[in-house]
Amino acid sequence: MISPRLALVSLAYRVRSDGFLDTQRGMEHARPGVLGYFGRLAVDCSFVSQIEITPQSVKSAVDAAVAAFSAATSLAELKKAKTEHLGEKSALSLLNATMRDVSAESKAQAGKLMGEAKGQVVSACGARESELAASEEATRLAAEALDLSSLGARRPHGARHPLTMLMEDMADVFVAMGWEIAEGPELEHEWFNFDALNFDEDHPARALQDTFFIEPIERHLLLRTHTSPVQIRSLLSRQLPVYVVAPGRVYRTDELDATHTPVFHQIEGIAIDKGLTMAHLRGTLEHLARSMFGEDAKIRLRANYFPFTEPSAELDIWHPTFTGGARWIEWGGCGMVNRNVLLAAGIDPDVYQGFAFGMGIERTLMFRNNVADMRDMVEGDVRFSQQFGMVV
Ligand code: PHE
Repeated sequence: MISPRLALVSLAYRVRSDGFLDTQRGMEHARPGVLGYFGRLAVDCSFVSQIEITPQSVKSAVDAAVAAFSAATSLAELKKAKTEHLGEKSALSLLNATMRDVSAESKAQAGKLMGEAKGQVVSACGARESELAASEEATRLAAEALDLSSLGARRPHGARHPLTMLMEDMADVFVAMGWEIAEGPELEHEWFNFDALNFDEDHPARALQDTFFIEPIERHLLLRTHTSPVQIRSLLSRQLPVYVVAPGRVYRTDELDATHTPVFHQIEGIAIDKGLTMAHLRGTLEHLARSMFGEDAKIRLRANYFPFTEPSAELDIWHPTFTGGARWIEWGGCGMVNRNVLLAAGIDPDVYQGFAFGMGIERTLMFRNNVADMRDMVEGDVRFSQQFGMVV
């Protein structure tokens, strides 16, 4: 015969393929020597406990549940433990199902036991659930935390090129004196670059080996070899008097080496007014030299020839820290604007006179900042530019 109680227990267990009952509950309730039946199958239930509501069986179900909950380390694990210990197949549910068999006089006590047990397990589960939820939330927040005080990934800093900055500084010296800044095209017409500046038809500077001419040659276009064509453009487009500086890029067919580059920069100045003399020219250049090289800067004018100035002079600057010892170094060219240039621009040279000058920006940077090799200026290595500071 199979007792109703044992039949119930049997239902709660699966029959293993080898005929033995299998339990999900562990062996803690097993009572040896019990033979059970499952359907028509006789099975060895020796490891299965007889389920009965007793303080011990209830306590052991509660203890197992509480232990499983506190062993759960995540909400997912807790959910599994909850199914195991509070679900339909849990020990508590199985015990609860035996209430039917409890005698009338024990029912109240068994019910009380079961109720307390259920309450204990449910609240243990709830407590663990809020603990785990809080710690999972804390972990998630920690992982998502943004450190607002840390520097974000940034693009590396660039730097303005020292030539650009120096060109602006030099132009500023003139702007402070009320001069204007003018610009001209780098792709220039031969007439502005040479003819209007009083260059002979066969002047050597026009030769193909010095000047980049643009094909077809008959169009007379070239890359300007100096900023002096801006003198003509300024005179043609402005009202007199004219006080203008023109910084910009110029081109000559030089090979790139320590002291030459085929592309370089100049700043041109031209002043046309009534009664200007070489004293004004010298005073202007001295002021520029002091602004660039300090109050002790010295300049020297040496007689020279340019087709567009008469008289003309080479402008030298005293270089006290030159590597081979202090010496004069050529800085630029200058002179009183040639009558023929004024005539080419439609100005009466008997009424207006003036002076012009032009100097290399690269040379200025070399003397001023002791840059020994011009190639550093054209390589575009930001580390070179950064040495001159971040000026915006
Ligand atoms: N343009 C001349 C040069 O490039 C310099 C210069 C400018 C000379 C103005 C006289 C007057 O060498």
